[in-house]
Amino acid sequence: MEQQRFDLTSQKQEEKTSGPVTCLGLTFDNAEARRAHFTEELRKKLQDPEFRKIEGFPIGSDEDILNLSDPPYYTACPNPWIADFIAEWEAQKPEQPDGYHYHREPFAADVSEGKNDPIYNAHSYHTKVPHKAIMRYILHYTEPGDIVFDGFCGTGMTGVAAQMCGDREVVMSLGYQVKLDGTVVQEETDTDGKKVWRPFAKLGVRKAVLNDLSPSATSISKMYNSSLDRNIVKKEANRVIEELKKQIAWLYKTKDPETGKECQVTSTIWSDVYYCPNCNGEIVFWDVAVDTEKKEVRAEITCPTCGKSELRKGDLVRAHEVVFDQFRQESRTVAKRRAVLIEYEFTKGRRTKEPDDDDIALLKSVAATKMNLFVPNCRIDRDIDLWYERDYRALGVDNVLDFFTVRAVCSISTFRHLSNKLASPNTRDVLNWVLTAVTEGSSLMNRERPGGMPSKLSGTLYIGALIREINPISFIERKFKKFFALNLPQLRASATSTQSMTGLGVLDDASLDYVFIDPPFGSNIIYSDLSILWEAWINIFTNTSSEAVVHRRKKQDPNTLREYMGLMTASFKEAYRVLKPGRWMTVEFSNTKASVWNSIQVALTEAGFIIANVSALDKKQGSFKAVTTPTAVKQDLVISAYKPNGGFEERFQKEAQTEEGVWDFVRTHLKYLPVTKQQGALLQFVPERDPRILFDQMVAYYVRKGYPVPISSQEFQVGLTPRFIERDGMFFLPDQVAEYDRKKMTSGELKQMSLFVSDEASAIQWLRQLIKEKPQTSADITPQFMKQLQGFSKHEKLLDQRELLNQNFLCYDGKGPVPEQIHAYLSTNWKELRNLPKDDPALVTKARDRWYVPDPNKAGDLEKLRDKALLKEFEEYKQAKKKLKVFRLEAVRAGFKKAWQERDYPTIVAVADKIPNNVLEEDPKLLMWYDQAVTRIGGE
Ligand SMILES: C[S@@+](CC[C@H](N)C(=O)[O-])C[C@H]1O[C@@H](n2cnc3c(N)ncnc32)[C@H](O)[C@@H]1O
Repeated sequence: MEQQRFDLTSQKQEEKTSGPVTCLGLTFDNAEARRAHFTEELRKKLQDPEFRKIEGFPIGSDEDILNLSDPPYYTACPNPWIADFIAEWEAQKPEQPDGYHYHREPFAADVSEGKNDPIYNAHSYHTKVPHKAIMRYILHYTEPGDIVFDGFCGTGMTGVAAQMCGDREVVMSLGYQVKLDGTVVQEETDTDGKKVWRPFAKLGVRKAVLNDLSPSATSISKMYNSSLDRNIVKKEANRVIEELKKQIAWLYKTKDPETGKECQVTSTIWSDVYYCPNCNGEIVFWDVAVDTEKKEVRAEITCPTCGKSELRKGDLVRAHEVVFDQFRQESRTVAKRRAVLIEYEFTKGRRTKEPDDDDIALLKSVAATKMNLFVPNCRIDRDIDLWYERDYRALGVDNVLDFFTVRAVCSISTFRHLSNKLASPNTRDVLNWVLTAVTEGSSLMNRERPGGMPSKLSGTLYIGALIREINPISFIERKFKKFFALNLPQLRASATSTQSMTGLGVLDDASLDYVFIDPPFGSNIIYSDLSILWEAWINIFTNTSSEAVVHRRKKQDPNTLREYMGLMTASFKEAYRVLKPGRWMTVEFSNTKASVWNSIQVALTEAGFIIANVSALDKKQGSFKAVTTPTAVKQDLVISAYKPNGGFEERFQKEAQTEEGVWDFVRTHLKYLPVTKQQGALLQFVPERDPRILFDQMVAYYVRKGYPVPISSQEFQVGLTPRFIERDGMFFLPDQVAEYDRKKMTSGELKQMSLFVSDEASAIQWLRQLIKEKPQTSADITPQFMKQLQGFSKHEKLLDQRELLNQNFLCYDGKGPVPEQIHAYLSTNWKELRNLPKDDPALVTKARDRWYVPDPNKAGDLEKLRDKALLKEFEEYKQAKKKLKVFRLEAVRAGFKKAWQERDYPTIVAVADKIPNNVLEEDPKLLMWYDQAVTRIGGE
């Protein structure tokens, strides 16, 4: 039996496919009766005008929404039963042993793992995270029975992952071992190089709440997270497909020229037609551009009429023709195309031929066919992004119908019609899923690529000059078989809603255990534009008003990124609200633009999350490295953020104005940070434990809460030492340090982070690391420092090395005893200098003119001096009448901080307006102050 594959934490999550079923406390004769009951409930709900006002409510009729939904598990609109599911699942949770306390460290794993899995590949989506990658996260962060949430779920891989965490075999396929008691163990290299198996998680199904703005996405997700009576589905689906074959066979008739035998066309290649710019002669692109022997498209062509050579495609003039469109009942001017090659089935193989008169006549009669079935007559008159980028109107494309040949529309419409007519709701769902799975491949976007496989161009709606139009029958059969063969969980452990993540009214506060999201990142992909081809067929559309994307058509508009950030902030606020305190959220980030990355960071902080770790996957090494600067964003990032636990938040209300609030924050935050990080057997520096990063985190928290920061960075550094324990420049809690020491003892070495110098702040950090390891003279530093300057941002005022050293470090002038840091360095590295007193002349001579890092108690004066210098520069920026091209970012940061403390918000906004937009957008600190200032001015 199917469900025996799973280690179920409760017996109630599968829905039997025959016989009585129980759902949300009600018992029904069978699954169909359950669906019928809740469909009627949903019908009533749809009458409620308030219900339709929920943010992101899809655009579609009641009937279409009811048809696509499988309530209460899935609704193609906001799902009114989600809270009921959560309450039921919460009650079913296995009991935890006495004294159980939830604690997890941040975690990162490869988000692209599992891209070859058949589940991942069964239905394409514009971007996806494979369920196997998500499983590691869910196993790490949750217990069996916990409730996982993905508010940007796309095709619902998080739901599959949550349920698969109960599948022993799949869990083991990730490289874990599963003990008899269900403990999942993973192999690790200890710091002394030994391989050990460590407990990692527990085997058991997790529950999933899924949501997406796009009805096509959630309808794909529905099938990955459903349970079916496979026998009935197979029988009914085969009947539909057989009937379809009969009804559309005439559309694909052709004759084998050799034998005269009637055959079925499998595909047809269409070519664009152009005019020669020289003689106006007609050019069929295929005829002149495709080298069938070499299987390639020539970059330069020769006109067959006038012989003009070296013509490129861009030189040709597009030809048009007027056709009568039966679907729209109007004459239309469209791009001229010719069918140039037909491939057809012949006995057991395939043959090709050039279209003959009968083929052309057939195509003409197909074009003249009248059909009374539903067609996706969806005018694309929105100002969609992809429209903006390409001149579709030149192609005569302004409707979803224009993405298909008439023949393809007839075939798919017939398929849709037969599925609705001949199949029961469950099978209809599967067939609708197959329909969207074949839509793009059956459209004009399927490019013929001589020498390669036909395919669409991803991330855009692109119609090429050479098209391979397929007969969708075998595609439909293939997709159905693939779906049927998938080893899906077939449980009912998920519930899906279609609405905007920015307003999840259906979810209660603090009701979920873990959030995994992979939101849209900036303008990488405009989901609703790409989904329009699917949504036109299901006849329900994404409500784009709250789609969290940066519209490319508005690229020049400085507000567009801010709008995106606003939507992301609202989404994160909702995630924060529904997450239980002390729990985690993982955000998968894949965009190379620092400004988008920054918006995400600021939005997370705005929402109340505290970022504990950001990791970038090093694909070559298969390991993660810490990321601290936005400029380093070149790969996929994994952000681990937590919602502070309730105890701390409450205490903080009382302590915020005092220094105790600061230390309480640090104490709580340190608990969430990884104690060690390893790369192979080597111990790595954990940047989040660095005092400067701890300070920034603390400031961000105060600022978001609207309190002035009660201490300076120098007071912070001084205050850390007596309260926490320092090791290798990182701070720990007393119970963490023992573990660190143990690992350090066996590993013996700590790998420092490599730093990328892009501005004054990172230059100081780089110098600190250099001098700390080896106090040295200015002359020694110069050649090394010069090398680092290549990556300096063009807007950043280049400070000279002397100034940087003077403002941040101390130089031993040979007077008085040799400072401890220099003494320690010299006595470990020079035999003859060992065990000498600190005023020994030999030691003094060797130590003279070396720079060293001041200890925090002495750093105060330096910092004050530097602050003064920075604020003086900021004063100049305030007075400046023109935009600032080159300036000191640190001065702007210092000035913003001071202005914020003094509630001088207009100054922040005024100076922000003078600096280039991208600099503001790419600097998390500036953006934070600026954002706060704008909000406060608005609120006052
Ligand atoms: C990167 S995709 C997620 C893909 C998903 N991880 C998967 O594996 O299929 C981002 C999704 O966010 C959705 N989206 C955009 N704006 C949204 C909003 N305001 N609320 C909910 N979903 C939204 C898009 O429709 C898209 O499906």
